[in-house]
Amino acid sequence: MEKMPYQPQLDTVVSTLSQTNTTKQPTDWRNGLPVLTGSTMTLREMRVSDAASLFFALTTEEVSRFISPPPTTVEGFERFILWAHRQRAAGQYICFVIVPRGMDTAAGLFQVRSLGPGFATAEWGFAMSSEYWGTGMFVEGARMTAEFAFDVVGVHRLEARAALKNGRGNGALRKIGAVQEGVLRRSFLRNGEYLDQALWSIIADEWRAKAVWGPRVVVH
Ligand SMILES: CC(C)(COP(=O)(O)OP(=O)(O)OC[C@H]1O[C@@H](n2cnc3c(N)ncnc32)[C@H](O)[C@@H]1OP(=O)(O)O)[C@@H](O)C(=O)NCCC(=O)NCCS
Repeated sequence: MEKMPYQPQLDTVVSTLSQTNTTKQPTDWRNGLPVLTGSTMTLREMRVSDAASLFFALTTEEVSRFISPPPTTVEGFERFILWAHRQRAAGQYICFVIVPRGMDTAAGLFQVRSLGPGFATAEWGFAMSSEYWGTGMFVEGARMTAEFAFDVVGVHRLEARAALKNGRGNGALRKIGAVQEGVLRRSFLRNGEYLDQALWSIIADEWRAKAVWGPRVVVH
């Protein structure tokens, strides 16, 4: 999440995409993401109507302090969502919105972006309203997203970067079994300061061999 690939200043394309209908389950993720159902949440494609709830969930100081600055307005989130749809259609990027069980509003997101041809290597990131921190939702959502990336998209290596100062982000990666490979010195500019980042990875084969993240995902 530290390197959120969406850059509002570069997004000048006027999109004609309408809101995504997630009740139709596409067979190719480039045509639309499936709904992944867990015990604490659902992950689904973002809709333009999620913009307001994502704005309130992700723009607080505690959520955004160690990640790339999210859009600063609801309209900015609408543009981000349409950009995400285009990037998904181009086979470059996946973004699931988190909908907590029993709710119909978005509480955060899991995103995965391709780092090379064919999505073999990818970087993921995540952010969730602090209301849901420490509830177990992160672990379940991470498992569902990783499973989708490895089994459906064909990712072989999933990387994450977390500012060293982001104790909670690094703790979250450690607890799902990611391996810290090193430190990317002064690699992330945030609030005028270059921060060191930890580089984490999960390799598909290792993840499958452990398979410790609870029951399989239900795909509707
Ligand atoms: C990252 C995020 C989605 C994780 O969700 P979460 O619900 O907070 O994660 P969890 O509580 O399940 O796991 C965090 C772990 O880090 C630990 N932790 C918290 N603060 C810590 C610190 N300062 N140092 C080390 N570990 C810490 C927690 O104790 C927990 O481990 P435990 O469950 O074994 O006790 C959420 O914190 C978030 O949205 N953060 C803001 C966005 C962000 O920083 N994203 C980038 C992450 S790379």
